[in-house]
Amino acid sequence: MNDSHKGAASPLAPEWLAVPEDLNALTPSMWAEDVFRTSAGQLTIDGISVAELKEQFGTPLFVMSEADFRTRARGFKDAFDDAFADICGGVDVYYAGKSFLCTAVATWVAEEGLRLDTCSGGELAVAARAGIAGAHLGLHGNNKSDAEIRRALDMQVGRIVVDSLDELDRVAKIASGRGETAKVMLRLTPGVHAHTHEFIATAHEDQKFGLSMAGDTTDEAGLSAAEEAVAAATAYHSIELLGLHCHIGSQIFEPDGFALAAEKLLTFLDAMQRKYSIVLPELDLGGGYGIAYTPVDTPRPPAEIAQAMAAVVRSTCAKLGIDSPRISIEPGRAIVGSTTFTLYEVGTLKTVRVDTPAPADAGDADDNVTYPRRYVSVDGGMSDNARPVLYDADYSAVVASRASAAAPQLSRVVGKHCESGDIVVRDVYLPEDVAAGDLLAVPGTGAYCWALSSNYNYLARPGVVAVRDGSARLIVRGETEEDLLNRDMGV
Ligand code: LLP
Repeated sequence: MNDSHKGAASPLAPEWLAVPEDLNALTPSMWAEDVFRTSAGQLTIDGISVAELKEQFGTPLFVMSEADFRTRARGFKDAFDDAFADICGGVDVYYAGKSFLCTAVATWVAEEGLRLDTCSGGELAVAARAGIAGAHLGLHGNNKSDAEIRRALDMQVGRIVVDSLDELDRVAKIASGRGETAKVMLRLTPGVHAHTHEFIATAHEDQKFGLSMAGDTTDEAGLSAAEEAVAAATAYHSIELLGLHCHIGSQIFEPDGFALAAEKLLTFLDAMQRKYSIVLPELDLGGGYGIAYTPVDTPRPPAEIAQAMAAVVRSTCAKLGIDSPRISIEPGRAIVGSTTFTLYEVGTLKTVRVDTPAPADAGDADDNVTYPRRYVSVDGGMSDNARPVLYDADYSAVVASRASAAAPQLSRVVGKHCESGDIVVRDVYLPEDVAAGDLLAVPGTGAYCWALSSNYNYLARPGVVAVRDGSARLIVRGETEEDLLNRDMGV
């Protein structure tokens, strides 16, 4: 047994996880702009302490900074507008509602000059409730129902992003039946797949989304699915083909993948314009911009990515001798992810001892040694953050209700579900004196956490609080036991 490693890295920790010099410090890239630890030790957001939030709203709770959301939304819009000003007069930024959407957020999006990307009838309903102009909405989805297509036409959405040849047919027929013209973009799969620091380029597409640009997914005439769709869309009187779309992945840090996709789509767009004597005035390069979940994540500022993408669009258009289409993008996570932390209360604690090979520099290297891992249970879990279970996603956490001078201890933050994989933060150093009743804050939970939340084990889904100008208000109320029983029809 060896417990003498307090303050030193635990051999059980992943290589990327350093022992923090100060467990009370907040890594700025991971938190909203107005989250601080006061001199008294408590975390505050725009001046409101986590104890007050707990008192008023309970835990678990999603705590969001409205100012930070607005700063990031405007930041994307300004950065891309600047970088593309001389290319296409600016960029339309569609906030990807799937990352997190409610009426308040949809309203902020519109107020900051962004548009809204939706992907279901439900998301369209939120947009309608927020009074977003149809012209500023997009509708995605690989399997839109006829009802969703009709709803989009009712709301006069600015673009239906068509995902397949099948769907193109259905949209054309529904629009034609109503004597209307549907504004359509085609979602193409350019064979560029990006994740964090890497991207891969493949000729073939083996996934449910989009129209393949690969030459050998052909019809009899030897056309790719993408070209077939352009040809069909051009022939339909009830379709106005606005342009092309692609989305290459998520949590991407490097601009290379976006740039390659832009080059491929522009080249294809030029070929289609010439071959079919059409003008495709719009090109959407999707979302996927990464954020910092842990101290080692180092996303680039939007301006840097925007400039790298603009350089490729500029040079590709020059090479092809065409004017650039109007560019649009669809960031979700990079706008909302870091605006929010989840506040939990600590409950049960336990420490297990894990056998692991001795580090090379520790005397007899053949021996196994035993190191402690502390399990810190919180009052939520995989029902409010499914990402660690679904994607092996890493998060971080701090004790939020007080500062601590205790030594760091390798910890695993786990939820309260009946599932051993119910992990919130796989590896994090927390102070040794963490105790039941402490509040824990997990940053970076604004995107795809509430959105993916569930009622597993009949847990009520947490509410979302927005903090602004020193006051906190619920923008989504938490569920009650009554909500949970409401849909149960009884005997
Ligand atoms: N546009 C399209 C067509 C998309 O499919 C997505 C995300 C976005 C935009 C926004 O991507 P973002 O900028 O937020 O990365 N649940 C996963 C992510 C799924 C993303 C699905 N599509 C996660 O939590 O990592």
